Amino acid sequence: KEIRVFAPATVANVASGYDVLGFAIDEPGDEVVVRYSDKPGLRITAITGDGGKLPKTVEGNTAGVSAQDLLRHLGKSDVGIEMEIHKKMPFGSGLGSSAASAVAGVYAVNVLLGEPLTKKQLLPFAMTGEASADGAYHADNVGPSLLGGIIVIRSNQELDISELPVPENLWAAVVHPDIEILTKVAREILPAEISISTATQQMGNLGGFICGLYEEDYSLIGRSLHDVIAEPFRQKLIPEFYKAKQEALSHGALGFSISGAGPSVFALCEGEKNAQKVASAIANVFNDNNLTNQIHVSRI
Ligand code: HSE
Repeated sequence: KEIRVFAPATVANVASGYDVLGFAIDEPGDEVVVRYSDKPGLRITAITGDGGKLPKTVEGNTAGVSAQDLLRHLGKSDVGIEMEIHKKMPFGSGLGSSAASAVAGVYAVNVLLGEPLTKKQLLPFAMTGEASADGAYHADNVGPSLLGGIIVIRSNQELDISELPVPENLWAAVVHPDIEILTKVAREILPAEISISTATQQMGNLGGFICGLYEEDYSLIGRSLHDVIAEPFRQKLIPEFYKAKQEALSHGALGFSISGAGPSVFALCEGEKNAQKVASAIANVFNDNNLTNQIHVSRI
């Protein structure tokens, strides 16, 4: 028996939800293949698409770590399992690459074992996997990669997460300019404290965004897509960020911000056509600056 699974890329923060909001997109994503083997224990037999960056040890990548953590929890560390990891997106892209691998690893092993745990119960193991790469503990990539749709995290410590409704016509235009930003660096440049007025603005926008989803109110969703915590600091790391934002909004995007820690950026749009148009407008700004980029348009 061989199990092949796919875990999608994700857009974390979604402007107003630093570390507490995220959504999944259709592609790209990572693939993991697992099968039983006669040799006891988990082994990584192949890794592709990582540019040779990942060691082939279980501890050296998030898929191995999350799967191992699940096996330990189930008392099945001795079960012989071979794992192949096929990375389909770059590191440091702001698209939740390490989270997608962590989710794919733990999900694949759970299916191979006959699904002893529910999807939601896999979250802590996927989190252990991701934290091994990123050092920080936030479920805004792992949560949506595992469950799909848009996720809000009430508490990253307690892993209390909820799935939000997605209006029928809500699309994402995601553009990845070809530079690498380490999440660690993008977190270090943020101030340790924020003012009450900043917190109030962010809370208002987060509340408005969630109401907009429930009420299918695209205008409210758009008005709520503002990030006053991370974007003002992180935009410096992304060439022509404000030009890209201006282009997205002038082509009809509901809102625009940084995907996770960047450099990818995203816009939310009403309808596929608009999302395509907005994605091209953003890509043109990067193209004009000789910055190669990839476009991903997806229904959320
Ligand atoms: N919420 C995280 C951040 C996502 O913005 O740092 C990146 O992994």
